[in-house]
Amino acid sequence: MTGELILEQVNKNYGPKILMLRDVNLTLAKGTHLSVLGPSGSGKTTLLRIIAGLESIDSGKIFFNGGSLTDIPPYKRNFGYMFQDFALFPHMNVFQNVAFGLKMKKKGNGEVKIQVKKMLELTGLGGYENRHVNELSGGERQRVALARTLAPSPRLLMLDEPLSSLDRVLRKKLLGELTQIISTLNITTIFVTHDHEEAFAAGNTVLIMKDGRIEQQGTRDDLIQRPANDWVRHFLS
Ligand SMILES: Nc1ncnc2c1ncn2[C@@H]1O[C@H](COP(=O)(O)OP(=O)(O)OP(=O)(O)O)[C@@H](O)[C@H]1O
Ligand SMILES: [Mg+2]
Repeated sequence: MTGELILEQVNKNYGPKILMLRDVNLTLAKGTHLSVLGPSGSGKTTLLRIIAGLESIDSGKIFFNGGSLTDIPPYKRNFGYMFQDFALFPHMNVFQNVAFGLKMKKKGNGEVKIQVKKMLELTGLGGYENRHVNELSGGERQRVALARTLAPSPRLLMLDEPLSSLDRVLRKKLLGELTQIISTLNITTIFVTHDHEEAFAAGNTVLIMKDGRIEQQGTRDDLIQRPANDWVRHFLS
């Protein structure tokens, strides 16, 4: 497989006794929708933070489009990272939130306006420009966060438990909308969740993590019919 994103033997320690990622090897072809599934503390967020450049690695290599990411700071990677708590700017309205990344990239006002409008339409938020984010429902905030992440046209989209703060009914509805939006974009996506149903719905390949290690990666059929070990079988049952 030609990899757009490649991780080779990546290790991450927090102190001498806490190994957070162990020998992680991962190859993602362009356009792949990967879900990362694992129990709490298995290293899912650490993996995303490392790819985003928010966390250093102790050993191993990371490449994107054939180039090493090691010395590339986060803001130069052009990756989109949607945090679990959305982290919207509370003092800004919807337009300003979605425009933020474009302004950071010093885009002109005309271009910013066009792109923000496009993103708000994509996420079903047309007409919300002047609304304040603290006046929005959880589902609307989630969509603003997605629009903000997508606005600078990232080369890679990472979503860290994007639905976990929402109630069950809304989760289901937004999962459908989110997977719909993701599938219309030709963008490599990593979707982190600890919910099996969400993982299989959001990704065409699912990576299972435990204690900082990749236990198995595969399609739903691979994982359910041919689990790599008893732990995976038990975890998915
Ligand atoms: N800055 C840090 N310093 C020390 N240990 C850390 C740090 N960040 C994470 N860890 C360790 O990593 C573990 C959590 O890793 P991580 O956040 O990647 O897990 P996760 O799979 O995203 O879990 P969750 O599903 O709960 O979000 C913690 O239990 C902690 O021991
Ligand atoms: Mg996490």
